[in-house]
Amino acid sequence: MPGIVVMGAQWGDEGKGKATDQLGDRLDYCVRYSGGNNAGHTVVVNGEKHAMHLLPSAVLNANLVPVLGNGVVIDLDVLFGEIETLRERGGPDVEQTMKISTNAHIITTYHQTIDKVTERFLGKNKIGTTGRGVGPTYSDKVNRIGIRIQDLLDEPILRAKVEAALEQKNQLLVKVYNRRALDPDQVADHLLSYAERVTPLMADVPRLLNTALDQGKVVLFEGAQAHHLDVDHGTYPYVTSSNPTAAGAGVGAGVGPTRIDRVIGIAKAYTTRVGEGPMPTELLDDDGEKIRTDGAEFGTTTGRPRRCGWFDALVVEAAATVNGFTDLFLTKLDTLTGWEKLPVCVAYDVDGERTDVMPSTQTEFHHAVPVYEELDGWTEDITGCRSLEDLPKAARLYVERLEELCRVRVSGIGVGQGREQVIMINDLL
Ligand code: GDP
Ligand code: IMO
Ligand code: MG
Repeated sequence: MPGIVVMGAQWGDEGKGKATDQLGDRLDYCVRYSGGNNAGHTVVVNGEKHAMHLLPSAVLNANLVPVLGNGVVIDLDVLFGEIETLRERGGPDVEQTMKISTNAHIITTYHQTIDKVTERFLGKNKIGTTGRGVGPTYSDKVNRIGIRIQDLLDEPILRAKVEAALEQKNQLLVKVYNRRALDPDQVADHLLSYAERVTPLMADVPRLLNTALDQGKVVLFEGAQAHHLDVDHGTYPYVTSSNPTAAGAGVGAGVGPTRIDRVIGIAKAYTTRVGEGPMPTELLDDDGEKIRTDGAEFGTTTGRPRRCGWFDALVVEAAATVNGFTDLFLTKLDTLTGWEKLPVCVAYDVDGERTDVMPSTQTEFHHAVPVYEELDGWTEDITGCRSLEDLPKAARLYVERLEELCRVRVSGIGVGQGREQVIMINDLL
């Protein structure tokens, strides 16, 4: 029985939340394996909108176990705030079911501060982070000075670690960034205030998930961010600081590659990006504005307007190749209704040379000028379509061409925000 990865094929916000929620009532476990509350995953049920930042997106289904793997970085204020909000809205009481890896790292106030001041310091070279402290927390993890969930079990250890970390950081804050030093006791007290609530949720997540898979349970590994924001495979340095790629699910949750049966890439029927970094098909004109308006393209986490442009097949094909997509779930096809022609990027011109695949160096990608193929648009409202046959012919041909260019079958199509607004072509389980 399957271990399934759901991940973003572009630069995030493809609709991973909605795709994950589709499978909700058939899952035994829904596991976040990377990122933190830089993510914003939207699920719309019966017209009610839920935005998940740390909780796995299928959490509205009370029968599954939500899990945060070791690869996730956790802001405890945000986590318990989300649990509370869900409870207040009549959702499942996740605190009774959720499991958190003892090895997951904690985002502290100093990580948030350093994230923000670093961006300010970088000026025009900034990354455009979400400012949630995610990058600095992963830096500390790799530098071996991070604070982990299990440290909440041992107060003297936690205090010593916070003090050691702040000894360095306060120098940086005061001497380089001209900010006030942070008090280690205050930071530690705040983290320890959660110890009692976190302790019952802590688990040996790798053992839990491997046992579940042995028993034939269905485990969905939900990616945050996306392939092109991956610190190894993305458009570095304009990336996040973790591995949202499919292989990251193994590292970030503690299962081997043989455990993954399906890798479902989520792609929007066009392209968006938040923050800085190259995006060849970006439209800086009225067309880009129209896509932004029609698709309500504003960040779920920061509210920033998303940069919008035509579908870039090279971007999605690269993600499909590196992650071994078995399926593509194409979202927001409905947003493209009403265009006479729909350009799709099928190649780049890089300094006078045509390439059909994404270049592997930053300089080439920064120079990439899209080569477009124009497909016919459609005007019919497709939000009520529930099968391929319901779609206007031009919309069907659009999907087929994308499938061909990305070299992966399209198994699902989103035609609206709602849970039911979907065309399922191949079962995702
Ligand atoms: P995620 O981060 O990948 O989960 O995506 P976000 O939730 O940040 O952004 C995707 C947005 O598109 C959300 O507002 C979703 O409700 C919405 N959405 C997802 N699929 C569809 C779709 O097929 N059609 C439309 N119109 N909206 C969709
Ligand atoms: P979901 O899971 C879109 C972007 C930020 C910035 C870069 C680094 O909702 O798809 P970070 O705060 O992670 O250090 O910022 O990554 N970014 C996202 N863009 N969707 C996301 O998550 C993102 N998470 C981070 O805008 O460019
Ligand atoms: Mg999002």
